[in-house]
Amino acid sequence: MKSMDASAVHRSELVAIAAERRWAWIVGVIIVLLLAMMVFTSLHWAAMPPSRVETIDPRKLHISGEFVEGNLGTTLGTDGKVVVRLIAQQYSFEPQCLVVPAGMPVTFRATSTDAIHGFVVGTTNANVMLVPGFIATFTTTFKKAGEQLMPCHEYCGTGHEAMWGRVQVIPRDEFLAKAGRGEGVSCVPR
Ligand code: CUA
Repeated sequence: MKSMDASAVHRSELVAIAAERRWAWIVGVIIVLLLAMMVFTSLHWAAMPPSRVETIDPRKLHISGEFVEGNLGTTLGTDGKVVVRLIAQQYSFEPQCLVVPAGMPVTFRATSTDAIHGFVVGTTNANVMLVPGFIATFTTTFKKAGEQLMPCHEYCGTGHEAMWGRVQVIPRDEFLAKAGRGEGVSCVPR
């Protein structure tokens, strides 16, 4: 085996130092970029950790309160606000199909009866985890009309991959015509 002379050792040391500097810069830029993204999304999209927590007893969901069967689905409140209430359970959503309007804010209120579930509506930013004992709330506006799939996206057991629902996004005028004030709108024609 040939032994390296002193100048070769010195050269490889310089190469190593240069590589370390280069990567230190690259890592530094990545960190600054990630911080900038956090600042941008929190200021511009108002995306931030929840500031309040609503709890509910998962054992009594079906018996009384906001999440009894007759209160699930989409309602247009007397204040003109659209609220969707749903429950996730192993292995289905209740209701399995939702009707929401395009072009106006829709508030989701959802919880789980058993394991941790989650849902995401198609390619929209409607995406939340559902934890038993807690009410998940978020408001979003669907830009386009059309049908979207709503799969469960948290592994919740052997039936996880079969757990999904449908969301029918319909034009705002059609929705307002369907929804009497304070009444529910469902996928099943009345
Ligand atoms: Cu529910 Cu996965």
